[in-house]
Amino acid sequence: MANTAQLSIDGTTYELPVIEGTEGERAIDIRKLRAETGLVTIDSGYGNTGSCESAITFLNGEKGILHHRGYAIEDLTSHSTFLEVAYLLIYGDLPDEEQSNAFIDDVTRHTLIHENLRQVFLGFPLNAHPMAILSSMVCSLSAFYQDQGNATDSAEMDITIRRLLAKIPTIAAFAYKKSIGQPFVYPDNSLSYSANVLNTLFGVPCEQYEVDPELALALDQLLILHADHEQNCSTSTVRLVGSSRANLFAAVSAAIAALWGPLHGGANQAVLEMLNEIHESGGGAEKYIRMAKDKSSSFRLMGFGHRVYKNFDPRAKIIKKTCDRVLEKLGVDDPLLEIARKLEETALHDDYFVERKLYPNVDFYSGILYRALGIPTEMFTVMFAIGRLPGWIAQWREMINAPDARIGRPRQIYTGETARPFVPLHHRPKSQ
Ligand code: ACO
Repeated sequence: MANTAQLSIDGTTYELPVIEGTEGERAIDIRKLRAETGLVTIDSGYGNTGSCESAITFLNGEKGILHHRGYAIEDLTSHSTFLEVAYLLIYGDLPDEEQSNAFIDDVTRHTLIHENLRQVFLGFPLNAHPMAILSSMVCSLSAFYQDQGNATDSAEMDITIRRLLAKIPTIAAFAYKKSIGQPFVYPDNSLSYSANVLNTLFGVPCEQYEVDPELALALDQLLILHADHEQNCSTSTVRLVGSSRANLFAAVSAAIAALWGPLHGGANQAVLEMLNEIHESGGGAEKYIRMAKDKSSSFRLMGFGHRVYKNFDPRAKIIKKTCDRVLEKLGVDDPLLEIARKLEETALHDDYFVERKLYPNVDFYSGILYRALGIPTEMFTVMFAIGRLPGWIAQWREMINAPDARIGRPRQIYTGETARPFVPLHHRPKSQ
């Protein structure tokens, strides 16, 4: 296969290298294009732009494949744990027994946050969105743990990574407890990562909270499913912010802000809000399907469609099964669930959705599962952030250590006014 591409412009032909990844994906390398031709490329939304070479996650949207470091997501969710997948993503290989024990031990022993940081929570209003609190508090970690200065020093980097993984569930749970006026529950080192998440969310200091191991397992699976998804909006944010050599806490805080949007991680909350709205309006899913198809309406069916998965979302397939299992175990009889089933069924057989390859994505089911676990709607995107953290860290670490690491700085095509003379205030005509 050709390893160069030709570009002809203004009578001159340029040779551009074509590079190939290990799974056969090919890209035209335009890194020298502007220097050689004076032109840039334009690709708003970055649908055709590879921003980096990465050895972390492979996904094929047409075939519905998702691999982390070569391991299929189906295998990881069946045989691994969230912390092991975190290690795999960040360090490149599954840990051996000694590495695994040391990693789990380190993460377990760094879960407490500085007591002064705990005071910061008190300043937020009761109705603050927990994503606002999470993003602020993660950035605040850089004020309390200042020894993360040298991003490329691996000992400092390793301790910062462990601190973040350990403290994010504590911060998330404190944000929730604050919003409902309950006392904070400190982490319990005898529990697994996901069991601890449930304990700090639902426990109270005055009585023992029994974590159901099946629910902790379902949550662990859900966290694994969210652990990385290559160069999506929040991950690209981590890389871009981190490329300025801002510290990891600051870069992750920015990623949390990016994840918050309803077109990204905020979709799981938006799904539940949409199901609620349908329920309150009498339960007729058809009207909402019609609205989603109506080009004069900006309404979209939340939880449907994906930028890269155009046949099915492999994560959705896995989580749908877990979701069914948990709902059956808990004996949930939820009218919103009925609406979700009807919506899924109708959309899957509707030409509009079939032609555009709009299938339920992971967020469609994750919202339903979180609700069954008792997690309030406003916390859904926070749970997503806990899951995505290892991916953000792995991508940040890869970016920082890349031999060709440079600050990220896209170009543009200017379409504004051309140069014009400045008019002093008293000479300016009145605007209409
Ligand atoms: N409901 C109705 N129509 C839709 C939907 C939807 N959910 N998603 C896409 N379409 C339509 C578009 O209107 C467009 O139609 P057209 O070709 O007639 O103009 C066509 O399908 C292609 O859509 P695009 O907007 O080009 O797809 P894009 O890749 O830009 O967007 C996205 C992907 C943002 C996920 C979109 O499908 C969407 O808004 N979905 C709902 C929000 C959601 O569930 N987001 C979660 C994504 S998963 C995640 O972040 C983990």
